[in-house]
Amino acid sequence: MTKEKLRIGLFGYGCVGQGLHDVLNSSNGFKADIIKICVKDRLKKRRIPMSNFTFDKNDILNDKSINLIVELIDDADEAFSIVTTAMKSGKNVVTANKMMVAKHFRELVDLQTKYKVSLLYEASAGASIPIIRNLEEYYDNELLYSLRGILNGTTNYILTKMHNEGIEYSVALKGAQEKGFAESDPTLDVQGWDAKYKLCIITGHAYGLFLEPEEVFHYGISTISKFDIQYAKEKGFKIKLVPYVGKTNDNTITSFVLPRFISSDKYLYNVDNEYNGVITEAAFADKQFFSGKGAGGHATGSAVLSDISANSYGYRYEYKKHQQGMVTNYTRNHKLEIYLRYNDEKDKELFGFEEVSEYFSSRFYKYAIGIVNLERLYTIRGQLRSFDGFIINTGRRLV
Ligand SMILES: NC(=O)c1ccc[n+]([C@@H]2O[C@H](COP(=O)([O-])OP(=O)(O)OC[C@H]3O[C@@H](n4cnc5c(N)ncnc54)[C@H](OP(=O)(O)O)[C@@H]3O)[C@@H](O)[C@H]2O)c1
Repeated sequence: MTKEKLRIGLFGYGCVGQGLHDVLNSSNGFKADIIKICVKDRLKKRRIPMSNFTFDKNDILNDKSINLIVELIDDADEAFSIVTTAMKSGKNVVTANKMMVAKHFRELVDLQTKYKVSLLYEASAGASIPIIRNLEEYYDNELLYSLRGILNGTTNYILTKMHNEGIEYSVALKGAQEKGFAESDPTLDVQGWDAKYKLCIITGHAYGLFLEPEEVFHYGISTISKFDIQYAKEKGFKIKLVPYVGKTNDNTITSFVLPRFISSDKYLYNVDNEYNGVITEAAFADKQFFSGKGAGGHATGSAVLSDISANSYGYRYEYKKHQQGMVTNYTRNHKLEIYLRYNDEKDKELFGFEEVSEYFSSRFYKYAIGIVNLERLYTIRGQLRSFDGFIINTGRRLV
């Protein structure tokens, strides 16, 4: 096959855009030209000459000599407009935008078929960890029981600091913001949205279901307290924010994002700070563990480069699990054991505990451990946003 030289139109020159630029310049074996870079802020100082930039997206989208669009902006709606315009005009696209992919997953898959173009997005889930292509290619015929992991570097950094230094959540968050790990508005990370978007993308490749993010229960870490960390430490656990997707029977899966206790014998225990980790459990390959940087310009840029390179030899996702159609149902009728810290006995009633195995109550600290149904958590998700307490999945398997 004769390779067409890659002429890239790049959108975004922030953390990941600049990271990609560096990675591309240092790559010996692979050559691609960035023809133009579209950015937004006309006043911002750039580290390369201004002749490389444009502020008009059509300069790139209408340039017929550009045969690959790399979309690395931080605005999901605008990204969707750029990506779909490019695909409709027959251009292949690489993106890192998890919110955009997760919110429009089905439509983006259909557009690829309709316009015979490729959309690759390895960096959107787990940044430098090559999980999507592994699910597509390595696990294409595997009976995957479950996948779980740490997919958000910001929350993992905060939880690591709270565990190691005994500091309050607000102090750890401020530290994360000062170090550039957390945005000034950290809502998407700390409330678990970001991890959920990534989980939905992964679910599409692991099981072939394109879930609406709205269908999936998520809970973050923004109300964690020193009591929770203290409880975990006394039991020898760390607390991590862990998205999970797994089979409940032959053709049905469930998924959710919840903080989880992790004991020291588990792979995820030592995945600290901004690192991410993913564990797959499968019938034949058994348990496998992937770990790597979950954020940062160069780490994410390396995953984008890998997609650019894959694009150059004609690679596209085949959505093999979707085509096989083995998993057809999604359920939230799934029992979980949770630790619940709460203030008011009335609040505990909200959760509809089916069984309580441990209970503690003092003036300052009350908790219960017991079994709840995921559907119930989903039903009360609106109330949980202002709930004075914290939930942790104990991770114990229920028989
Ligand atoms: N940062 C990470 O570690 C990481 C990891 C995985 C995935 N991602 C994803 O990668 C994407 C980029 O993230 P980032 O951290 O690089 O963001 P960032 O540092 O905030 O940079 C965003 C870039 O997008 C440009 N931009 C914003 N709106 C635009 C518009 N309407 N038209 C043209 N350019 C526009 C900005 O232009 P100006 O330069 O003019 O402001 C800036 O260059 C996001 O989707 C993010 O979720 C990031």
